[in-house]
Amino acid sequence: MTVADDAAIQKLRNMVFPQQGRSLDSVVSEMLGTVTNQAFLQHPRFFAFVPSPASPLSWVGDVLTDAYNPHGGTWMESSAASCLEQETIKWLCQQAGYSKTAGGLFVSGGSIANLTALAAARHAMLAETEYNDGVAYLSEQAHFSVIKALRIMGLTQEQIRKIPCDVHLCIDTLQLEQAILKDQKEGKKPFLVVATAGTTNTGGIDPLSQIADICQRHRLWFHVDGAYGASVLVSKKYRHLLKDISRADSQVWDAHKWLFQTYACSTVLFRDRKYLAAFYSSDPEYLRDAAAENGEINYWEWETNPACTLSEIVAHPADTGN
Ligand SMILES: Cc1ncc(COP(=O)(O)O)c(C=O)c1O
Repeated sequence: MTVADDAAIQKLRNMVFPQQGRSLDSVVSEMLGTVTNQAFLQHPRFFAFVPSPASPLSWVGDVLTDAYNPHGGTWMESSAASCLEQETIKWLCQQAGYSKTAGGLFVSGGSIANLTALAAARHAMLAETEYNDGVAYLSEQAHFSVIKALRIMGLTQEQIRKIPCDVHLCIDTLQLEQAILKDQKEGKKPFLVVATAGTTNTGGIDPLSQIADICQRHRLWFHVDGAYGASVLVSKKYRHLLKDISRADSQVWDAHKWLFQTYACSTVLFRDRKYLAAFYSSDPEYLRDAAAENGEINYWEWETNPACTLSEIVAHPADTGN
C-alpha cells in the first residue's frame, strides 16, 4: 500500500485553479503519477479490506455507463437500462430466496442502501405521530452506517439500542428480546431490528432465524445488512450460513464488495416491494406525461402500482410469507 508522500500532497495542495487549459497528456500523466498512487485495491490478491478488487469486466460496464450516461429516471429515456436493472434485481432477489412480491433498487453504496431500507421500514411500521416513540435495535458490531442512517432519519440516541454481543461477536438474542419487551412495557414503539450478515470487524453473522422469530413475535421490521456477507448467497457451499435471510423484510447487498464490481454498485432488496413504493414513490407534475405503463418502470415513481399507505398495510410484513 502506498500513501502519497508529503511532497506529493503539498504539490496537490498548492495547485491553483488553472486560468489556461493544459494538454490532456499532461493532465493524464499527472493523474497516473500522483493521484492514482494509492492503495492498490485492484491487485488480484487484494483481500485486505472488505472492498475487493473489481473485475476487469466491471470496468467495461463502468466505461460504457459513463460514456452513454443514461438517465435512469424514466422508461422513456432508459427503457433497456431500466429493464436490465429490474431483471438484475429480480435475480438477486431470487438468490435471497424472495418470492415474486420482492423488488429493490441499485443505489450508490451500502450506507445509502441501509438508509433507504430503514426509512421505508419506519414508514411501514409506525404512523408519523409515533415516530418520536419508535425504537430501533442493532448489535454493537453493526456497521456505523446503520446508526448514521437512523440519526439522519431523526432518531435520537435514546431511540437506538445497541445490544451486546455473545462470544462469537454476534448479537445476543436473549438480551435483544428482553430489551424489546422492556421498551414495549414502557410504552415505547419498537419497530426495527437490524441484523448483520458479515460484520465489518470479524465477518460474524447474527443468528438470522432467531431474529426473524423475535421480529415475528413482536411485530418488528427485520432488516439484514449483508453489505458484503450477502454474496455468500451465490456460493453453493456456504449459502446455508445465511439460512432464513429470505425472512428479512429488507436487506442490503453490495456488488462493489464481494461481487467484484466497481464503485458505486450496491443494492437494497425488499421482500415485498410495495413498502419501497409506499415511501418513495412520487408524482412530479413535469413528468406526468412520461407515466409508466404495465411492465415498465419509472425509477422516480418506482412503479405503476399506486403507493400504499400505512392504513392499507393491515398485516405486519412478518405475518405474511413466513
Ligand atoms: C457490514 C457493512 N455495512 C455497510 C457498509 C457500508 O458500505 P459502503 O461503504 O458501500 O457505504 C460496509 C462497508 O464496509 C459494511 O461492511
